[in-house]
Amino acid sequence: MEYQELIAARHSVRRFEDREVPREIIDKIIEEATTAPSSKNTKSSEFVVVEDHDTIVALSEMRESGSTFMKNAPAVIVVLGNKEKTDLWEVNCAISTTFLQLSAVEHGLGSCWVHVNGRVRSKYAADPDPEVRKGHPEGMAEDYVRELLGIRPEFGILCVVALGYEAE
Ligand SMILES: Cc1cc2nc3c(=O)[nH]c(=O)nc-3n(C[C@H](O)[C@H](O)[C@H](O)COP(=O)(O)O)c2cc1C
Repeated sequence: MEYQELIAARHSVRRFEDREVPREIIDKIIEEATTAPSSKNTKSSEFVVVEDHDTIVALSEMRESGSTFMKNAPAVIVVLGNKEKTDLWEVNCAISTTFLQLSAVEHGLGSCWVHVNGRVRSKYAADPDPEVRKGHPEGMAEDYVRELLGIRPEFGILCVVALGYEAE
């Protein structure tokens, strides 16, 4: 796709077809995102792919609003930054995410950036049963995502990109 066509086609997609995204396409998009520039070439961004439906549903409950649409995405990519590599991990993550979203367009996919901030809305976090609450802590979205996916403390979590084929 020509560059002008690509940037004109990019828009946030929040409704997806019920169709899997081939893993090789997801891998290609991530490979292309890793070509993004980074401060002092620290390449601090990392990506976690989630395709398990129940985990995607749990992720969609990470915020009080703005993340629920994600439950119908066939795949999501969590964008992390290694804080030990640079103080500018968030900036690097934002550039990587932009590359990721443009690359998704090139591969015929729609995507939407879901920021990891604010408070959790998960019904699990409010459940009276401690067994149900386990793995779904109340509090901030970043802590919720960290615990849900077992992300190590040296990684900051900037956003989750919902990915899929755009529904009509
Ligand atoms: C930093 C950032 C955070 C965003 N967070 C969310 C979000 O949490 N939920 C959501 O549905 N869209 C989110 N978006 C998508 C924006 O709402 C969207 O890009 C904007 O409305 C412009 O629409 P367009 O992408 O279709 O051009 C975010 C975009 C950016 C760049």
